[in-house]
Amino acid sequence: MIKLRIHNKEEEWKKEYDSFADRNKSVLSLARKGEEEYKDSQGWLDTKEWAGEERIRRLEMLAADIRQNADVFVLIGVGGSNNAARSVIKALQLPGTPEIVYAGNTLSAHALNRTLEKLEGKSIYINCIAKNFETLEPGAAFRVLRKYLHERYGSKAAERIIATGTAGSSLEKLCEDNGYMFLEFPDNIGGRYTAISNVGLLPMAVAGIDIRELVRGANDMQKELHEEDAPGNIAYQYASLRNFFYNRGYRIEMLACFEPRFKYFFKWWIQLFAESEGKESKGIFPVAGEYSEELHSVGQFLQDGPPIIFETFLDIKERQDSFLMESDGKKDYFDYLDGKDFWYINKEAYKATVTAHSRKMPCFTLEIDRLDAYHFGQLFYFFQFACYLSCKLMGVNAFDQPGVEAYKGWMFKALGKQG
Ligand code: PA5
Repeated sequence: MIKLRIHNKEEEWKKEYDSFADRNKSVLSLARKGEEEYKDSQGWLDTKEWAGEERIRRLEMLAADIRQNADVFVLIGVGGSNNAARSVIKALQLPGTPEIVYAGNTLSAHALNRTLEKLEGKSIYINCIAKNFETLEPGAAFRVLRKYLHERYGSKAAERIIATGTAGSSLEKLCEDNGYMFLEFPDNIGGRYTAISNVGLLPMAVAGIDIRELVRGANDMQKELHEEDAPGNIAYQYASLRNFFYNRGYRIEMLACFEPRFKYFFKWWIQLFAESEGKESKGIFPVAGEYSEELHSVGQFLQDGPPIIFETFLDIKERQDSFLMESDGKKDYFDYLDGKDFWYINKEAYKATVTAHSRKMPCFTLEIDRLDAYHFGQLFYFFQFACYLSCKLMGVNAFDQPGVEAYKGWMFKALGKQG
């Protein structure tokens, strides 16, 4: 379960907020129904559409096969095509599963050389994930890596190459021509909403993640968000709070967590909100803070800088790890920590930060019970749905990204791309 908590003294703004949330609650029922104008982008709204039993079983079997034969699995993709899988894998990968290497998310020659070095002498599988197969980064990396595989494995290379793309795309044709395995990229979901589909689930399963549990978490969240009315609906409340404070001049949201395993989840979240919301000169700029480290850098700005930031904490309720502090008998003035658990110390740091920051800015917590596959599923569905609602409240299209095309045009021109 995810719980939403507001930390500020509510007297001053609560009434106004309640009236804002009540006034706009029709966006919730509209979003739940699935709107005609967005029907080409809402394949994620019902998780069963792209992550039903049959698909999960197929992915589990394929992943088991890859785990058996691969030392390294290269995930080629960028943005929505790799962020969800990477966020879960970096947090929960099981020991003894293939090393997951990321490519196609940079154009750095240095990074490409280091990646190729990592592959030497290992058994390699690659999965190129690209919706339309026009994006430069994955296209270029896939070229290099499939050439590498063909040189190493000759005619057997094709057995180690999997591509995930939309039906009818040039990637599918490439697979047909060369005998690579082709998996479907949902044609009615944009990249950043594809966590619960072949796109996110295959790499996760290769890393030993229980994708069945992850999908169950997403399903349960879907059920909750589609049944709860506006006042008790956490996605609607979170989206409303964001917009309410946006209208009061808050322009930046800091997503903060005291658990470093969320590092790559932050990247997924940043993409989701930045690409969905930042358009028509509107939007809340999403940033993320790995606490407590960043309290020693951006903490100063948050506490004393201009009042344009609000903060959402991700907190994990249960203790999953423990480390007791012992004295080494030397006088270092840290003896107040003796006998305390790092889990407890970290939790107190979170509480202290909430107390300090909530005097300055709007502060909320999204609490999950534990960090596991089930709760990752919950978080994916929760944030996707909340982002959609937030965009509706802001009056922007949650599913396009016209601004991304601007730099691409100049780059393709400079590189001599035809057409
Ligand atoms: O959310 C999106 O649609 C984008 O961020 C894409 O995922 C990203 O640009 C990668 O696109 P593609 O999978 O077509 O290479």
